[in-house]
Amino acid sequence: MKPGKLITIEGGEGVGKTTCLRYLGAEIQRQGMDLWQTREPGGTALGEALRHIALGHEYAGMTEKAELLLMFAARAEHIHRKILPALQAGQWVLCDRFIDATYAYQGGGRGLPQDRIQWLEKWVQAGLTPDLTLLMDMPVKQGLKRARQRSVPDRVESESISFFEQVRQAYLARAAQEPERIKVIDASCELDDVEAQVMVVLGEFFARHT
Ligand code: TMP
Repeated sequence: MKPGKLITIEGGEGVGKTTCLRYLGAEIQRQGMDLWQTREPGGTALGEALRHIALGHEYAGMTEKAELLLMFAARAEHIHRKILPALQAGQWVLCDRFIDATYAYQGGGRGLPQDRIQWLEKWVQAGLTPDLTLLMDMPVKQGLKRARQRSVPDRVESESISFFEQVRQAYLARAAQEPERIKVIDASCELDDVEAQVMVVLGEFFARHT
């Protein structure tokens, strides 16, 4: 068994992951854990280069299969070079997006078959799954409004409302399938309430795992 823990945070665009990561990371460290924070796609030199290719507008119109494989290429590198060594060393890894994003965006949003994603997951991850996933959920329009005010949309962020509705439904379907691991946070409410929900989930996780 790996000594460390892998915690991931997921959600559609503009749901407040960045703010949540800040206090989640602070609380994990306050509990005395050695924390390493990272993101997908990314987290390694090659992963960040693949992120640039996958999300930039340079390759607008890239095929869905290529997009899927870029996500898994970045993940293969990330797991092998960074995540597994960190977990083996007992670190707690906090990752901004991971495999659930692939099911939500490439599966739900792009409509790629689940069984292909499952096959790649098995091969690339070889049994590595997050110990805890926080799914920040809010109505699509609310999230997109925030995201689009914040920065110029990247290639994926430029998709239609219906794409993001599919993404949200795919995320929620996964949460319904794996309620022990994936905890849905209502991110549409006031910031303090969102933080309170996250802290309850984290508190329960600590109670079970430390
Ligand atoms: P973000 O981390 O800034 O939210 O941006 C990452 C983008 O990459 C986001 O639009 C979702 C997308 N993405 C996928 O489409 N599939 C994946 O597997 C991952 C990890 C991210």
